[in-house]
Amino acid sequence: MSSNRNFDERGVMKGAYQVIDVFSGMGCASLGFKRAGFQIAAALEINPLRCRIYEKNIGLKPIQSDVLKIDGEDLLAEAKLRKGGKFCMIGCPPCQSFSKLSDTRSINVLKDPRSRYVNKFAKLVEETKPTAVIFENVPWMIEGPGKIFFKRYLRTLKRAGYVTFYGTVNAADFGVPQNRFRVVAISIKKRFLTKKKTEEIEKFYKNKIKKPKTVRDAIGELKSLRPGQTDRNDSLHSARNHSAKVLKMIKHVPKDGGSRTDLPRSMWLECHKKIKHGADSVYGRMSWDKPSGTITGRCTTPACGRFIHPSQSRAITIREASRIQTIPDSFEMEGSKQDLEEMIGDAVPVLLTQKIAENLLKILP
Ligand SMILES: C[S@@+](CC[C@H](N)C(=O)[O-])C[C@H]1O[C@@H](n2cnc3c(N)ncnc32)[C@H](O)[C@@H]1O
Repeated sequence: MSSNRNFDERGVMKGAYQVIDVFSGMGCASLGFKRAGFQIAAALEINPLRCRIYEKNIGLKPIQSDVLKIDGEDLLAEAKLRKGGKFCMIGCPPCQSFSKLSDTRSINVLKDPRSRYVNKFAKLVEETKPTAVIFENVPWMIEGPGKIFFKRYLRTLKRAGYVTFYGTVNAADFGVPQNRFRVVAISIKKRFLTKKKTEEIEKFYKNKIKKPKTVRDAIGELKSLRPGQTDRNDSLHSARNHSAKVLKMIKHVPKDGGSRTDLPRSMWLECHKKIKHGADSVYGRMSWDKPSGTITGRCTTPACGRFIHPSQSRAITIREASRIQTIPDSFEMEGSKQDLEEMIGDAVPVLLTQKIAENLLKILP
């Protein structure tokens, strides 16, 4: 490849923008950037399984390390880039401490070491000076107690010479068959910002696809399964078994969007009778002709959300969850069922990152 005049001696396409992906997970954000035409120069991830999957699919071995032990020079050396060079940085730090679904509440978020990852990411930006930076996290981070970290992030980037735009976007507005609200912050070196580029960024936050993609679009043609059955041609399309009690309940939840609250009270589980408000989506069915709710790290467990198939008597499979996350079937994944659903739930939808990356190309110098 290096002999081709379109590539440099590292096999990197000449002229392509390069990316350093911090907290790269199994590589969904990197894949979206690659699809938009970026080259991945380096990635950083602590989890060995995720690193392995990343390498298989993205073709580059991430630095497997705790981010707190890495500095900007390490990243630049790995990526063979120079400080202030022509490259971008992505950062999707673990969001559990900022998540509404987390057990972590108000004051604890300040003590949670994961909250420091946001500051660490800002420091890596300061030390490497990419042309532009993308940061993604859960909305709770800017609305909840975690916002002190985000404000500090904004201050650090401003001091380093960046202008940051941010807002909450819904992945469904970009063609992902899922309502998934996420904060996306786009930072660019101030000297590159023009009025036209500002307008492009503002357009991105207002994006609204005319006809949202639906659960049917994503999983409608997959093989029908009974609980406990696996598709002979796809080991990831494997339906979990349910206890007799849960199965009875699932069978009675009305097809195509029904909820456990539609059932007569006599059929409710004892734990649900104690709930006064909320938890309406647990044991809920997805609707065929709408985007799904947010796919989480427990997305094949009906007790954890609206994760029952629209018309079959079972929870969705790993394949169905990954389709809803716009992860292509060709993406090679391995691990236990729990590993897989956590990785899928943590991922940034591939299509959303592709759209972010395509937008970024419009504003890069
Ligand atoms: C939100 S996920 C990133 C998802 C990824 N961008 C994708 O699209 O697939 C956050 C990642 O940070 C990793 N992580 C957690 N703590 C870390 C640490 N101390 N150092 C480096 N990575 C860490 C997790 O293993 C997880 O894969």
